[in-house]
Amino acid sequence: MTSSSGIPHHIAIVMDGNGRWAAKRFMPRLAGHRQGMESLRRCIRACVDRGVAVLTVFAFSSENWNRPADEVSGLMELLATALAKEVPKLQQDGVQVHFVGERSGLSDKVRAGLAQAEAATASNGRLILNVCFNYGGRWDMAQAAAKLVAQGKPITEGELQGAMALAHVPDPDLIIRTGGEQRLSNFLLWQAAYAELFFSDKLWPEFDEAELDRAMAEFSRRERRFGQTSAQVAAGDQKVA
Ligand code: IPE
Ligand code: IPE
Ligand code: MG
Repeated sequence: MTSSSGIPHHIAIVMDGNGRWAAKRFMPRLAGHRQGMESLRRCIRACVDRGVAVLTVFAFSSENWNRPADEVSGLMELLATALAKEVPKLQQDGVQVHFVGERSGLSDKVRAGLAQAEAATASNGRLILNVCFNYGGRWDMAQAAAKLVAQGKPITEGELQGAMALAHVPDPDLIIRTGGEQRLSNFLLWQAAYAELFFSDKLWPEFDEAELDRAMAEFSRRERRFGQTSAQVAAGDQKVA
């Protein structure tokens, strides 16, 4: 979905490169994650300013548990403190927060923080922010299928779409990955079907308004065909959904 102004309705970001940003400065990896949080704050504000309706960010993957224990606990701590600190600012900016991912592996403290932040921002309407935390695309597909089975529903594309953890928003139009890597790393595997991909060499803490604008400008130049021909797209033919 794209507005007539060419602004993507839904942008999703793999916020990668915090560790390398810190290593380049001889700092601990956690300092990179802290700086990454600043970058996220700036990005949220920029998306609000540009009229983006949905921003989905990858903050912690199902596979990130495999990192050293001190980095994992540092990331959990960072999330817990950020939640407490950020909610009033998100309120001010009209941001509605959703946490997307498996919650059962998280501590009671973090889980309570997530629920509180969601409840406090539920009536905001300027930007929907989905924070994917303890999330994996494969987890999402498996949990959606399990839900349908438990409800005795058929496993169809439509039913699966509706049972996914991101069923409250349309699929992303633009997926950005920072940090120079060109892979999805288990992010939005189902929802990425027709997203435009943009890879930035900037490390996440360096990702700023100018780079966001570069990604959005590139997006506005792409022709999205959804399986049709260029001529059909030019003629404005309706695709068969
Ligand atoms: C992304 O930055 C943040 C998380 C995965 C939590 P990284 O920590 O992966 O940074 P690099 O890729 O090692 O530089
Ligand atoms: C993807 O980054 C996960 C997040 C940004 C949260 P990783 O740094 O974990 O991905 P890989 O391991 O390089 O594929
Ligand atoms: Mg990485």
